[in-house]
Amino acid sequence: MVTNTPATRPANPRFSSGPCAKPPTWTLNALSDAPVGRSHRAVIGKAKLRAAIDGTREVLGIPDDYRIGIVPASDTGAFEMAMWSLLGERPVQMVAWESFGAGWVTDVVKQLKIEASTHVAEYGQSVDMAALDYDQDVCFTWNGTTSGVRVASGDVIPADREGLTLCDATSAAFAQDLPWGKLDVTTFSWQKVMGGEAAHGVLVLSPRAVERLESYTPAWPLPKIFRLTKGGKLIEGIFTGATINTPSMLCVEDYLFALDWARSVGGLTGLIARANANTKAVADFVELHDWIDFLAQDPATLSNTSVCLKFTDDRIADGAGFAKAVAKRLETEAVAYDIGAYRDAPAGLRIWCGATVQTSDIAALLPWIEWAFEAEIAALAPTA
Ligand SMILES: Cc1ncc(COP(=O)(O)O)c(C=O)c1O
Repeated sequence: MVTNTPATRPANPRFSSGPCAKPPTWTLNALSDAPVGRSHRAVIGKAKLRAAIDGTREVLGIPDDYRIGIVPASDTGAFEMAMWSLLGERPVQMVAWESFGAGWVTDVVKQLKIEASTHVAEYGQSVDMAALDYDQDVCFTWNGTTSGVRVASGDVIPADREGLTLCDATSAAFAQDLPWGKLDVTTFSWQKVMGGEAAHGVLVLSPRAVERLESYTPAWPLPKIFRLTKGGKLIEGIFTGATINTPSMLCVEDYLFALDWARSVGGLTGLIARANANTKAVADFVELHDWIDFLAQDPATLSNTSVCLKFTDDRIADGAGFAKAVAKRLETEAVAYDIGAYRDAPAGLRIWCGATVQTSDIAALLPWIEWAFEAEIAALAPTA
């Protein structure tokens, strides 16, 4: 029987893996400077969009010769726009180790029907990135949000590759070091590590990606929302704040606030340190308890944002039911929202450890997980 509830509750019980917790200093007042009711093409609107692009470059350390665009439809929009615009010029290698990567495989194999080889690993494992042919195009996810497995290092990607690398970095950007020289297309949305709003995607293009856009025209039609070129030339305006269609200036303002907050915690280094500290708190807990483990099998690939856990106690017969019950108990106690594993992933918990989460809140949550685990184990025991 479990009787004692832990003494401390997380001040903020939001541990969702997207949309993620807002920066700790955020209030609705953060949006008070948004130019609402004004055209995004007015001087003030364009200046805000330009500041979002420039701030992204500054905080992430993106090279000056890379283009950064704000595009529609969140990370999905940015990544699909890139695939539809760039792929098909040569064969492609599709890499996946969880559900979002698998979604991009479906796009290429079943929708675009391009000549492709697929490299797929089970949840918890990763694909050997050194074994890929980088003279073909390569599409992959840097951090698998639904398995908690990330790329260990970009060193294996050759600098002198002939193909392009297309990287979905939505749950990695702002929490992990991304090797820009190895990435030709990088996409993310504001809703993850920055605690921003969804709906807008960020598309980062290397000079080689731009070269491909200007020298290759896909065989399929492109809707206006995907079009990055006009008359064979890059539409440069997209990368200076003249968005393809209308953005939400509230979301832009919110992102500008998040960038300021990121600067206040030490920029990228500070953001990474915060995510690492959160993950270490979870790792220390896992180390101390033999009934819980990471889904990621190789510590070198352990995500520091979407940390996925599985229950390993032999007494649990219905893994999915057990994990759901634990998550529900924590939600009912208002100590953790949205920490059940992703619907397509193995049963377990997923705790967002990105930079907007306070380590004190992770520390406060962990005893509650133990409490909920013990309560559910006790509920399994046959009554006398
Ligand atoms: C790796 C990955 N790719 C793509 C997406 C889809 O992102 P969005 O809903 O911002 O388009 C997600 C969302 O969680 C994700 O984790």
